Amino acid sequence: MRSTRLKVGGFALAIAVILSLTSPPSSHSQKRENVEARINALLARMTLAEKLGQLQQLDGEANGNFRPEHVEMVKKGLLGSTLNVRGAQRTNQLQRIAVTESRLKIPLIFGFDVIHGYRTIFPIPLGEAASWDPAAVERAASIAAAEARAAGVHWTFAPMVDIARDPRWGRIAEGSGEDPYLGSLMARARVRGFQGSDFSAKDKVVACAKHWVAYGAAEAGRDYNTTDVSERSLREVYFPPFKAAVDAGVGTFMSAFNDLNGVPSSANPFTLTDVLRGEWKFDGFVVSDYTSVEELIKHGVAADGAEAAREALSAGVDMEMVSRLYNKHASELIKERKLSQQTIDEAVRRILRIKFRLGLFDRPYVDEALERTAIFNSASVAAAREIAARSMVLLKNDHDVLPLDKNVRSIALIGPLADSRQDMLGSWTGDGKAEDAVTLLQGLKSKVPQTRINYAKGCDIGCDKPDGFEEALRAARESDVTVIAVGESAEMSGEAASRSSLDLPGRQLELVKAVQATGKPTIVVLMNGRPLTINWLAENTPAILETWFAGTQAGNAIADVLFGDVNPGGKLPATFPRSVGQIPLYYNHKNTGRPPDANNKYTSKYLDVAWTPLFPFGYGLSYTQFKITNLQLSAERIPLNGKLTVSVDVENTGKRVGDEVVQLYIRDTSASVTRPVKELKGFQRITLQPGEKKRVEFLLTAEQLGFWDRQMRFTVEPGEFQVMVGSSSEDVIEKSFEVGSNPY
Ligand code: GLC
Repeated sequence: MRSTRLKVGGFALAIAVILSLTSPPSSHSQKRENVEARINALLARMTLAEKLGQLQQLDGEANGNFRPEHVEMVKKGLLGSTLNVRGAQRTNQLQRIAVTESRLKIPLIFGFDVIHGYRTIFPIPLGEAASWDPAAVERAASIAAAEARAAGVHWTFAPMVDIARDPRWGRIAEGSGEDPYLGSLMARARVRGFQGSDFSAKDKVVACAKHWVAYGAAEAGRDYNTTDVSERSLREVYFPPFKAAVDAGVGTFMSAFNDLNGVPSSANPFTLTDVLRGEWKFDGFVVSDYTSVEELIKHGVAADGAEAAREALSAGVDMEMVSRLYNKHASELIKERKLSQQTIDEAVRRILRIKFRLGLFDRPYVDEALERTAIFNSASVAAAREIAARSMVLLKNDHDVLPLDKNVRSIALIGPLADSRQDMLGSWTGDGKAEDAVTLLQGLKSKVPQTRINYAKGCDIGCDKPDGFEEALRAARESDVTVIAVGESAEMSGEAASRSSLDLPGRQLELVKAVQATGKPTIVVLMNGRPLTINWLAENTPAILETWFAGTQAGNAIADVLFGDVNPGGKLPATFPRSVGQIPLYYNHKNTGRPPDANNKYTSKYLDVAWTPLFPFGYGLSYTQFKITNLQLSAERIPLNGKLTVSVDVENTGKRVGDEVVQLYIRDTSASVTRPVKELKGFQRITLQPGEKKRVEFLLTAEQLGFWDRQMRFTVEPGEFQVMVGSSSEDVIEKSFEVGSNPY
């Protein structure tokens, strides 16, 4: 029965309007008004060439240096920003030219990809998300911001908040996986970590929510490929983490490369203006992705550079990264009345607004002494080790073969990733240095110095030749236990790194099988940037630890977990499929009219592989055991705008202290449009001592039950809902409740 529906938020909006009319202007709003006045005064003095200069970002050298051309352009006020230029002394040098030699002395904004660390590198974002610990992720971003700002970087092109349901897409490594709720909390945590409450602070940077939008829906998981996504899926799956970033105060967005429903994301008025500015009131600026403005020509929506510039600027892309079409064509477009001066002025205004909020007009330089103390200090390195261990996911541990005994006499450490510094950093390594990275070999040696470590690489990561297998088998035979580090190289994920297979590369599996056949207990340490089809490992090896690319302190963090100094508590942020043929495979799928049924041929499944995942979303084990019981709801029925308290008992029934991530899912069993079989709406990572039992509570609001109906209106519909609570998306206990047809 769907008679009434509540346009959620109407009541709250009325209250907000009344409050805004009665409360005195806060210092915050006074500060903002002052900035707007300063922008207006500056805009009035700028020539068209100087305005277009603010819309231009150019690329520095890979080593962080600026180019000679930049100096000339900055002197003339024709360049507003660079990417990749970094280092306190260098940025101050170019900034000094901008603020002392140009006519209007407008400071530059220095941007850089500080994705999971600046010099101290944390786990790749997919790994950080696997911690299900927003506070830890915020802390990592905060450390990254402090290091980056000390190096003269004002702006990070992060967080990447693209939802990814296809692990063939290499950039799944850079995001928070497949779920909008987890992705939203991670987006919020990273924006807060990077920006703090005031990103003019000397240890904060302005963040950039990217890639706007639905870049992760690339067909066939092939990077830069076409995306075709319904508006409902956009609004329910791909938008939420970006909205969370806006709600957290993110200062900039980056438009994406992909063709979105026929209108490329870097020229899409619906997403860039109607939603981002019209609905969400975002007042920062949008930068294009790298030459994504010029690529509108290849997309076939612009006949030439002038058309591409007009399309992108008019749609709402304020700053052009690397291509130079705005500068080249804007004046003629204005003369031909194809582009308004107001559009240009509005783009300049947004960019100046962020420069003012960064404090660059008042404090354009960075304290060069800061670099020596703020970057790669012991506190940051210790945090990297702690957060890396929290990101790890125990996928299997038969007969408690883990944790290892510190008195073990000998360990065979085998595999192409066992002693590879660079690969520990993953993709997008910022200013991270391979020589800083601790490998697993080093981590084991420092953890158990009295243990003999027999190291044998076995093969390189591509593993197309078995030349080193014999040496590896010898090491295994001579040792009490074997640890084998397999997976991908850092370059096999990240940008432009799609894979058509999710198997271990080359003959790595053959190496594992041969080592396993020696009969010694074999612990698999996975290092990878995406879910992998590790079916044989899952069925035949006793223990598997997913470590992602764990960053600068990888080796020490993995050793902490392998020897039980840290009990792993991470959970999968993305589904591990059994076969690449199952993709896209994600937990919050629709039920279909013929849900899979092994006893009925005519239902939705495969002939040659089970329809279920190898490891489901939200899955992860511990060295201890937990029991989740006694699910209670505060009511059997709530009003249309009501709230429900959901609670469970969580008990540590094992012998070790450990963390459990208690997850809350809902299902709308019948609505005016089909709804997912479950949706994550809450989680808590809690620590319990052996034998300890704790009551965990969640508050579920009616708004969290809402969706976009057939008329694309956000609504909560009355009817039956299921609540599920558990330790993964598949291991849940459930109850039902009703939402009534009337508000309070
Ligand atoms: C790249 C990426 C984007 C990055 C930008 C600057 O092509 O798509 O994520 O921030 O260019 O490096």
